[in-house]
Amino acid sequence: MQKTRYKPIILITGASSGVGRALAELFYELPQYRTIVTARRLSMAVLRKNFEPKEHFRMEELDILNSTSREQCLQRIRQDWGDVDILINNAGICFRSVVEHMSEKDELLQMQTNYFGPLGLIRSVLGAMREKGRGKIINISSVSGMLAMPTMASYSASKHALEGASEALWYEMRPFGINVTLIQPGFINSNSFQNIYYSQSSQPDSQENGEPYSDYYQNMGPFIEKLMRLSWTTPQDVAQKVLWVVQKENPPLWVPATADAILFYYIRRILPRRWLMPILFFFLPNSKKWAFHHTFRRDAVGLQNREQIKRKKAS
Ligand SMILES: NC(=O)c1ccc[n+]([C@@H]2O[C@H](COP(=O)([O-])OP(=O)(O)OC[C@H]3O[C@@H](n4cnc5c(N)ncnc54)[C@H](OP(=O)(O)O)[C@@H]3O)[C@@H](O)[C@H]2O)c1
Repeated sequence: MQKTRYKPIILITGASSGVGRALAELFYELPQYRTIVTARRLSMAVLRKNFEPKEHFRMEELDILNSTSREQCLQRIRQDWGDVDILINNAGICFRSVVEHMSEKDELLQMQTNYFGPLGLIRSVLGAMREKGRGKIINISSVSGMLAMPTMASYSASKHALEGASEALWYEMRPFGINVTLIQPGFINSNSFQNIYYSQSSQPDSQENGEPYSDYYQNMGPFIEKLMRLSWTTPQDVAQKVLWVVQKENPPLWVPATADAILFYYIRRILPRRWLMPILFFFLPNSKKWAFHHTFRRDAVGLQNREQIKRKKAS
């Protein structure tokens, strides 16, 4: 009798671009796994253009915001192949906006995509993994899950939430033989900064854009793009890290995926907290001049601005 080899079923979200696309390309060539790459309806064409269904590789529509879409996708996989053994929560979006410019709707979209959606998928696959006594949950997090940056509060909050939940899940799943891993990339050399989401007031071409935060946007946007371009790490490198986790018997909870992720981990550990923030603030481009003409803080600059406004009103 021929013995059938165990071929883990891997589900990857957000495979139309960036890291997800690199993961799709990688697993397309690995017939030892059965891989399902997913995309939202509008991006399915991108997947179909780049890949052909194979015995070990298929493409499915999945919008992680929609619980029906999640359940239908899992149902189709169950019918044809079985239950998911390895879930790779990669899909994510990133808002570029200061806190004051975010609407509740924006906040919700950010959290739904990067936190509620992935958690929904996790809940749907855990039961079968528990019953089998094995499985892997791999969440693509970010350095923003350990350190926040101005104009990225909501994104950072979503990744902190994902990190917190994954940490708790690690404890909960350990007795059941299910591994939980957070892949933590910092800046990746990719075009993903073009996929940035903006709030109404943070749009680069918005009338309202800016004041009193225009300095923040004008400096942080190009700064982040530059760091991404300078990064040595490509989406393919991150995909290789994910493969390492897939292959490893007992992968760790945290896997830094770029050099800056390792650097920031140690900076956070070594520097006293009271120094960390002012030092990082100092290194942000032109940060000393941010909101210079808009601040009313209790120092010479603020008082001077106050006086100027008073004089304008009086004249
Ligand atoms: N790029 C970086 O420098 C960087 C750094 C740290 C962490 N990360 C993390 O790495 C992961 C991948 O990022 P990336 O840079 O590869 O981003 P990306 O190129 O913008 O790709 C994001 C993917 O998520 C999908 N997506 C968005 N909303 C979705 C939804 N509601 N349902 C299903 N799919 C959805 C997008 O699909 P559509 O085509 O349908 O929009 C796209 O395929 C994210 O979790 C991100 O936070 C990225």
